[in-house]
Amino acid sequence: MYTLIMRLYEKLIKYSKKDIVPFHMPGHKRKNILKSNLPYEIDITEIDGFDNLYKAEGILKDCLQNLSRLYKTYKSYYLVNGGTSGILASIRSFCNIGDKIIIARNSHKAVFNAVELLNLDAKILDADVDKYGIVKEIDVCRLSKLVIENKDAKCIVITSPTYDGVLSDIKQIVDLAHSFKMPVIVDEAHGAHLFLENKSALNYGADVVLNSLHKTLPSLTQTAVMHVSNFALDKDNVSKKIERNISLFCSSSPSYVLMSSIDECVSFLEKKGKEYYLRLKSNLEYFKTKVRNLKHLKIIGYNTPHNYFNFDNTKIVILTNFCNLSGTQLMKKLRKYNIECEMASVTSVLCLTSLCDGRRELLYLARALLEIDKTLITKQKEIIGVLPKIEMKLSIYRASLLKKSLVDLENIQNMVCGEFVYAYPPGIPILIPGQKVTSEIIDYIKLLKAGRVILVSSSQEIDNMRLQALDKVGK
Ligand SMILES: Cc1ncc(COP(=O)(O)O)c(C=O)c1O
Repeated sequence: MYTLIMRLYEKLIKYSKKDIVPFHMPGHKRKNILKSNLPYEIDITEIDGFDNLYKAEGILKDCLQNLSRLYKTYKSYYLVNGGTSGILASIRSFCNIGDKIIIARNSHKAVFNAVELLNLDAKILDADVDKYGIVKEIDVCRLSKLVIENKDAKCIVITSPTYDGVLSDIKQIVDLAHSFKMPVIVDEAHGAHLFLENKSALNYGADVVLNSLHKTLPSLTQTAVMHVSNFALDKDNVSKKIERNISLFCSSSPSYVLMSSIDECVSFLEKKGKEYYLRLKSNLEYFKTKVRNLKHLKIIGYNTPHNYFNFDNTKIVILTNFCNLSGTQLMKKLRKYNIECEMASVTSVLCLTSLCDGRRELLYLARALLEIDKTLITKQKEIIGVLPKIEMKLSIYRASLLKKSLVDLENIQNMVCGEFVYAYPPGIPILIPGQKVTSEIIDYIKLLKAGRVILVSSSQEIDNMRLQALDKVGK
């Protein structure tokens, strides 16, 4: 079923052995003059026989077809600039400058960047937070209300799964959106593996879905893919627009090292994906038996049930809501065991697993958690109101153009924010330009600072507790 031509990586290796004098890019000329282990020998440009990603007619066309067959899509594309480029390209495919768009509050910063770049009128769907402080699935009733109020919106953008693994009811969302002829983009950056058990948004009819392969699959950092599904509205036209916009937001010199990494990953998934996924699932079941007796630390879906529409339990979300430790403190303690986690917030730690994790690693994590758990005492913490509601005073685009000054956090209440502020990871904005700064947001930022969560702001002044505010639209 799969195209049985030479795989890209194989072809690159074969070519690297040829005695060819390269009077072309890259400047390293495939020589390892720096004496490093970097893959200079296969790092080429669009030379004879290696096709062109943006006019794929040869080996890259085969690569894209193999990807599309694997994910069972109408069309699939490589993204060498990460899921970020897919978000920008897909939104631009549906929206022209000044258009209306519906986006979930917990969207990645790339979605807000697209809103700024295209000066979009963004209608933001507020996030619901559960009793652990984790953002829940999309509330379809609230979305429905927003759609009815904004029938002229050009598309809906949601994230599923979230960084924490929360899955939304894509089928219901798509049914709702399509009844208004509104396409749905699903940021499935954290769920590139979900198609292996038919849980991808592609299975539920989303129009466009993007996956960061590098997040959960064996592929190099920055590699991602985007798909137009078989159920997409006006799929031929959408595909053409997506193609054009990918070339707008991705490098004009796509790395063959990255592209061969995607192709290798696709080949692996095709041959062994299901087997490795089942093995991971079985290892996670084993992990579950080991952490069952944790007393203070709670793990969503493991020793405490999840209360979401659905949950991707390849994400191990450890809650510290009920003990005398913060998420960042737990992450630090795990470092003493040489365990490096993906992310920590004030009351949780996220450990990502992938097809490449074995029973040994999971057992080691379980043992470390059990040891730490024994040293803890019970302490009930307040639920943290993550992602406060956004009240926009003017568009992100306009706010980005206006004159701003740095203001101490203590004095900024009721002013209009002039910059983005987010915790990284997960890269979801806490504040966006044009938003009114409320006391709730100030308290939330202080709480994150006190919890030693890494905060990033455009002015880089957030560590000094200062933020840019607009001069003109003041108190
Ligand atoms: C939900 C979500 N979407 C998109 C992205 C961007 O993906 P990438 O890092 O592949 O550009 C991220 C990155 O962390 C993310 O968390």
